[in-house]
Amino acid sequence: MDKLLIAGGVPLAGEIAISGAKNAALPLMCAALLTPEPVTLTNVPELNDIATMLKLLAQMGVKVEKVGAGGTAGGEGMALTLDASGLNQPLAPYELVKKMRASVLVLGPLVARYGEARVSLPGGCAIGARPVDQHIKGLAAMGAEIGIEQGYVHARAAKLKGARLFTDMVTVTGTENLMMAACLAAGETVIENAAREPEVVDLAHCLISMGARISGAGTDVIRIQGVERLHGTTHRIMPDRIETGTYLCAAAATGGSVRLTHTSASYLDAVIDKLMDAGCEIALEREAIRLKAPKRATAVSIRTAPYPAFPTDMQAQFMALNCVAEGTATIRETIFENRFMHAVELARLGADIKIDGNMAIVTGKPRLTGATVMATDLRASASLVIAGLAAEGETLVDRIYHLDRGYERMEEKLAALGARIRRVK
Ligand code: EPZ
Repeated sequence: MDKLLIAGGVPLAGEIAISGAKNAALPLMCAALLTPEPVTLTNVPELNDIATMLKLLAQMGVKVEKVGAGGTAGGEGMALTLDASGLNQPLAPYELVKKMRASVLVLGPLVARYGEARVSLPGGCAIGARPVDQHIKGLAAMGAEIGIEQGYVHARAAKLKGARLFTDMVTVTGTENLMMAACLAAGETVIENAAREPEVVDLAHCLISMGARISGAGTDVIRIQGVERLHGTTHRIMPDRIETGTYLCAAAATGGSVRLTHTSASYLDAVIDKLMDAGCEIALEREAIRLKAPKRATAVSIRTAPYPAFPTDMQAQFMALNCVAEGTATIRETIFENRFMHAVELARLGADIKIDGNMAIVTGKPRLTGATVMATDLRASASLVIAGLAAEGETLVDRIYHLDRGYERMEEKLAALGARIRRVK
């Protein structure tokens, strides 16, 4: 099992390119199921989750073609062409779904295009139960016959019908699943309480380029007029706003000065605001962000909530920053019920964190000291790397397969910013 060995205490400096967004790429790959024509995606990040999704689609009969070397310095990423004309097995098996919950995103497209889907229930994960009841409720409202059999969601519909849908809570992949299904349904579908995340908008843009009729993406009411069929397209994946925020936090925690290219600040207002409150100087360019950190940041309280509020996927990284900042701050996690597992690991580095339900109270320390820590989930891993970069001495982060799911070549990018970091077997 790979580990990352970090010798901390070096302020990050320099420039790196941000990759394509994992949480945009995953639904976009599933959108290819909606048409028999080829769909080409560019700026695809090379991540384990992308590889898992490719495996899942291939075993359904989707032809997959990878073009170009991924992660080149120019930040162009890899290109993928997906051809679902030979789709012949609408099945998402447990072995793959348990590795990646986003597999549930094949459900809507399969029922809409193929008329049937058997998708394993994802099961819980480290950060929470994460049920898919809203995905099921929405498809049932659109006329799918849907039930749970031996741990699988089994859905059938000769032709989905447009419906007025209201999700009980804001759900990103729930909104994406239902929006994709509605593209080929008969009549109009309205999704109320829809997720407004930029990745939902990126997916809508791609679907529209395939011939879908969608309005309101990015607001909490999305209207979709069903069409007979969708055609192929070429779509460039948006930059990864969470990867961007992660490197901004790493620079802030180490008193560094960095420039991140091939990205945009327009999806990170809440994070940028908090980094400025922490004392960072931030300059926004058309496709780049520059951050200059103070010697020691000021602790800043945050509260996670659906977009455009502070993203839950940046909570762990910001906690690491607060661990070395001046002062005490509170972190309230309102999306997932168990997303503070990085706190006990950060405490091993000397952090002062008190957990009280869904609130963490963090008192910054002038310095942390390196230790061996264990990653538990994707963003917790990033939080431990950030703390290790800021700590004095050596930090060994174990189980970094979590990190490889969502960050492309993290140790190379950090080394390019001057970090003393290497992967050890
Ligand atoms: C997406 O997960 C992201 N993943 C997550 O990123 C992100 O943390 C999350 O949205 C919130 O922003 C992808 O886009 C692939 P939700 P998703 O449905 O869609 C509850 C990362 O680190 N809920 O918006 O699975 C759910 O339990 C990952 O990249 C139901 O109860 O999250 C959670 O408490 C982690 N029933 C809340 O809603 C449902 O049917 C929000 O979940 C659906 C969701």
